Amino acid sequence: MKRVFIHTFGCQMNVNDTLRMSEALSSMQYSPTPTAENADLIILNTCSIREKAEDKMLSALGRYRQVKLQRGALIGVGGCVAQQEKNRILERVPYVDFVFGPDAIQKLPEIIGRVEADRVRVVETAWVDSESYVFPRADPNTSRGKATEFITVMKGCDNVCSFCVVPHTRGREVSRPFTEVLQEAASLTTVGVREVTLVGQNVNSYAGGISFAQLLLRTAQVPGIERVRFTTSHPQDLSDELIEAFRIEPKIMSHFHLPVQSGSNQVLERMRRHYTIAQYLGQLEKLRAARPDIAVTTDIIVGFPGETDDDFEKTYQLAEQVRYAGQFSFIYSPRPKTGAAMREEEWGSVAHDVKIARLERLNAMQKKISVEFNAKFVGATVEVLVEGSSKTDATRRFGRTSQNTTVNFDGDAPIGALVKVQIQSASAASMSGKQLSVDSLPAVMIPEAMVAPEVCVA
Ligand code: 5AD
Ligand code: SF4
Repeated sequence: MKRVFIHTFGCQMNVNDTLRMSEALSSMQYSPTPTAENADLIILNTCSIREKAEDKMLSALGRYRQVKLQRGALIGVGGCVAQQEKNRILERVPYVDFVFGPDAIQKLPEIIGRVEADRVRVVETAWVDSESYVFPRADPNTSRGKATEFITVMKGCDNVCSFCVVPHTRGREVSRPFTEVLQEAASLTTVGVREVTLVGQNVNSYAGGISFAQLLLRTAQVPGIERVRFTTSHPQDLSDELIEAFRIEPKIMSHFHLPVQSGSNQVLERMRRHYTIAQYLGQLEKLRAARPDIAVTTDIIVGFPGETDDDFEKTYQLAEQVRYAGQFSFIYSPRPKTGAAMREEEWGSVAHDVKIARLERLNAMQKKISVEFNAKFVGATVEVLVEGSSKTDATRRFGRTSQNTTVNFDGDAPIGALVKVQIQSASAASMSGKQLSVDSLPAVMIPEAMVAPEVCVA
């Protein structure tokens, strides 16, 4: 048996792709190892959403060079930077053996076979066009040890947000047929999975035979599935039908990630987002009417080209008004081939120190609101799906609430149990409490999770 170490950067799409890579490699007798030092094959599953993500990949590559020198390990680069840079990675990093895009995961055995047999360097970044694309089918055994798992429901993105590299790295939207999604959910329940998160770059424009709202409702009906989540959404495509699904199906969890990006209509127009703040707020109002306890989270970009002090104030005020449960805010970074990068000179760059100051102000405000949001639960009893032992204290358990907040608690319930936890304290990022009761157990007992793979949120 040979060993493979896969270092994952970026979003849930990549986390899922990593699982599919290890499945493809198991046919070549590669088994996963949690550290690079004893690996025979090292793969970086990369992200190119922001400059920082690419820098992280390059510095990781530098570290793995040693392993190559010592053990002769093969090094491959996959994911979004691979798709974007193609053979430029081989030119820039002489010790990389192969480069493959997100559509080439199932070809990994063939690629590695060629590298091993002929000692050639390989680049495989062809798109697979919509009609012929077959989504890799997950092997439920890969999910053993988990109470919650992701299911890919679509790939690519047909929007043209002017800041975003995704259409260039992941191509056109292709939806997975709904029957495959439902089958995958059912197969995951056979190893004890009770919560699934449907993932895609823009799930609201899902077109796999039924609407996305219907897909969520049908997934919730799969025997053994107790909780359903999804990510990520574009406000432009958020339908009333989806909002209605929150009203009628309690198995859809009370969390909605709805990236707003900016609170200024002028900036939104240059971002090519196709909605106004008034429309966005209208959607939130309907959503909160349908599910009063819903936690709304968002993504915000500061320092987009031409963003004035006044534009930023509008973003700040919006975030204060909406009172997001959580916010992921980023400093704008120009990405290759994007509309905003090409027009940055015309619209005007924002000075780096101004960007930093704006980000810090937003983060400070959000921290305060997140603390207040979580503090409301102190004293209350919440339902938690147990995911394993707490990352900070192995004698405790951890899981998440319907609102997607992490809870660390004193208790002994096995992975996959739905438990009632009384909340005793809360911070911006998590809550702490004690187990009161075990409400239900998974159909099959789940073994305590082994070593989690390395993931860097870029
Ligand atoms: N610069 C900064 N942030 C970006 N995002 C996407 N592209 C960029 C960029 N060029 C952010 C958006 C998106 C999240 C995943 O990353 O907020 O919603
Ligand atoms: Fe995910 Fe986008 Fe990063 Fe690719 S570039 S890994 S799609 S966040």
